[in-house]
Amino acid sequence: MGAGETQVKVWDVPVRLFHWLLVLLFAFMFFSGKSGSEWIEWHMRAGYAVLALVLFRILWGFAGSTHARFTSFLAAPSACIECMKHLLARKPSPYPGHNPLGGWMVLVLLLALLVQTGTGLFANDDLLSNGPLYDLISKATSDQLTMIHIWNFNLLLLLAGAHLIAVLYHAAFMKENLIGAMFTGVKRLPADAAGGVVARFASPWLALVLLAVTALAVYLIVKRPF
Ligand code: HEM
Repeated sequence: MGAGETQVKVWDVPVRLFHWLLVLLFAFMFFSGKSGSEWIEWHMRAGYAVLALVLFRILWGFAGSTHARFTSFLAAPSACIECMKHLLARKPSPYPGHNPLGGWMVLVLLLALLVQTGTGLFANDDLLSNGPLYDLISKATSDQLTMIHIWNFNLLLLLAGAHLIAVLYHAAFMKENLIGAMFTGVKRLPADAAGGVVARFASPWLALVLLAVTALAVYLIVKRPF
């Protein structure tokens, strides 16, 4: 660790597990979505898991630990401009959690994932497989939502690519190991970076309860037992 630096725990276990599970599922969704009808059942199951995870992450954005909260990382435009200057000057980041630009990217990624999983519920493949809510709408509407499902996935690939480039930019030009921090939860920061903010870590039990709630919600949407 360099002089004038400190190590700070920023990411809680639920955020880290959410992120890496999402990455694995996203890779699987790509593979299974392109691999023909024998994988479609698993594609849909993985989609339900992504939907439950994203709904969980949205709830955690209100009830979770300090740096998981939307209020801690959705910043004003002036802060985004300031952040852009930091990035271009390749100065060490003073942000313990997501930087202001990264914070907005997180929101965009979550919304795009919601659109992806939401449209998948109503999609059809013109062959044997339909999303579980297909019969609630007309074929024409399902076709439109299927198109959105396909194009939004391309958008998600672009967003995920930009996200990865940003993380690698931090590693290459600012010597900041954000990827390691997403595994360990700990970031190396300039000593004055925490800015007096003491992170509060929410209970993992609360995370488990919220995940159970969102998993149940997705189960009820998909199976419609009532
Ligand atoms: C191997 C590929 C990936 C790597 C190495 C990676 C790395 C990271 C890192 C380091 C962060 C924290 C950024 C920060 O410190 O502000 C992050 C956050 C995030 N990433 Fe990725 N990412 C990858 C793929 C993806 C994909 C494919 C998605 C979604 C489609 C994604 C969605 C997110 C989200 C939503 C967050 C915010 C986490 C949270 O606050 O809960 N990432 N990623």
